[in-house]
Amino acid sequence: NATPYLEKYRSQFHFTPPANWMNDPNGMVYWDGEYHLFYQYHPGGTTWGPMHWGHAVSTDLTHWEHLPMALKPDRHGQIFSGCAVVDWEDSSGFFAGSPGLVAVFTHADQHPDTDRPRQRQSLAYSLDKGRTWTMYDGNPVLSHEQLTDFRDPKVFWYAPNRTWVMVIAAGDRVLFYTSPDLKAWAYASEFGAEEGSHDGVWECPDLIELPVDGQADRTRWVLIVSIGDRPECPEGSRTQYFVGSFDGSRFTSDAQPEAVLWLDHGRDNYAGVTWSDANRADGGRLFIGWMSNWKYANLTPTDSWRSAMTLPRVMSLKTGPSGVRLVQEPVSGLQKLRREERQWENVPVTPGINILSSEKSGTFEIECELELGSATEVGLKLRQSESEETVVGYNASAQTLFIDRTRSGETGFHAAFGCRHEAPLEAREGRLKLRLFVDHASVEVFANDGELVMTDQIFPDPGSTGLELYALGGEARLISLRLYELNSVYSA
Ligand code: FRU
Repeated sequence: NATPYLEKYRSQFHFTPPANWMNDPNGMVYWDGEYHLFYQYHPGGTTWGPMHWGHAVSTDLTHWEHLPMALKPDRHGQIFSGCAVVDWEDSSGFFAGSPGLVAVFTHADQHPDTDRPRQRQSLAYSLDKGRTWTMYDGNPVLSHEQLTDFRDPKVFWYAPNRTWVMVIAAGDRVLFYTSPDLKAWAYASEFGAEEGSHDGVWECPDLIELPVDGQADRTRWVLIVSIGDRPECPEGSRTQYFVGSFDGSRFTSDAQPEAVLWLDHGRDNYAGVTWSDANRADGGRLFIGWMSNWKYANLTPTDSWRSAMTLPRVMSLKTGPSGVRLVQEPVSGLQKLRREERQWENVPVTPGINILSSEKSGTFEIECELELGSATEVGLKLRQSESEETVVGYNASAQTLFIDRTRSGETGFHAAFGCRHEAPLEAREGRLKLRLFVDHASVEVFANDGELVMTDQIFPDPGSTGLELYALGGEARLISLRLYELNSVYSA
């Protein structure tokens, strides 16, 4: 973090690789006071290429220290996505009886006979707080003769059965395996061929148990599944989730098979999974996603590096009008970045009048609550100039929240990028709560205390720093608004 990154579009408080291409977050694990973040990394260029695992650590999930690459391709192939766990009881035997870190990931190569892609699961372990890694000499530990898509293992310890459980993507479904030692895996069950969205190949699954409404004795299981891009789907790659139960070998969804729940209603949150072993007192789980979309990920207009991660978020479950749903809040460590606060309270929002007209900012957080009143639409315009703006708005009659990035800055690198997209959101008693994080190349919106989240990349000119609070069709009322300038994580 010592060197500031000053390039155009370089995120100031989102994780980015120092240089070159990054995609999925991998191997997130909390161990000995450090949050580890590994990531799909191509050290040889700014587009996707032979995959390695890059590595960084943090103590607050906000400031990151870059570390040397953790895993490199070897005789079994490239290093695709996967996870890391603390092997508390040394079930693997790698640690002479002490606890230690084991990574479980996909080795990707070509089948020597058929030349078709081959994906097999392997292990690596570390004896020095994740600083260096040794490939297990028994690799690969799990392969599947029939499948070409067989990747992205996510492993957790299932205490009631004293066994490891792996969930892994297999084309149009996920498979579950169990193991006593992370080395020998037995098939348990499958889920999904008939459920959820199949707009693209299934990737990067995760299965977590969460308390409902903060009650530790009432839990549900959440299965997270990313789905890849398909040219005919304008949304590109996205992440869905299922709420259900898990008995140690089988996941059962609570909902109708065709019901689809989206983890994020923006365009740029993909392949996200949760941290292992980061136990929180509130039972919530820490999550981070890749802030891009396979539809245009290789084309975004950055120079020496490509892609950022989303803000890390705390996931929990809340009962809403249509059932138990995921709720997301940004991690509290981000509050340390708040530099200067300005505040407005109880002000009318009148069409044609912008109370934020004298504000200028490129990296900031806004917390606000609005009463919709007679307005048909209310919202914020960010990163504004004469020719640019990104609109985060609420359509009161349709009850939808939207982001419009058609005029957000550079959009021409892909036809699908410059878009407006929306998602249903009920106003509570005529009120709307928004929490927004705006960085040099992104906007993240947490609406109604994280009930709905939208994450989008934007590429505005650095000079587009205007802000507008607007209402259309009638008068709304600002109950309160706090605007925080955010420090860069690279400043002292
Ligand atoms: C998801 C993904 C994974 C794969 C990795 C390769 O974005 O396609 O399924 O392991 O990226 O980089």
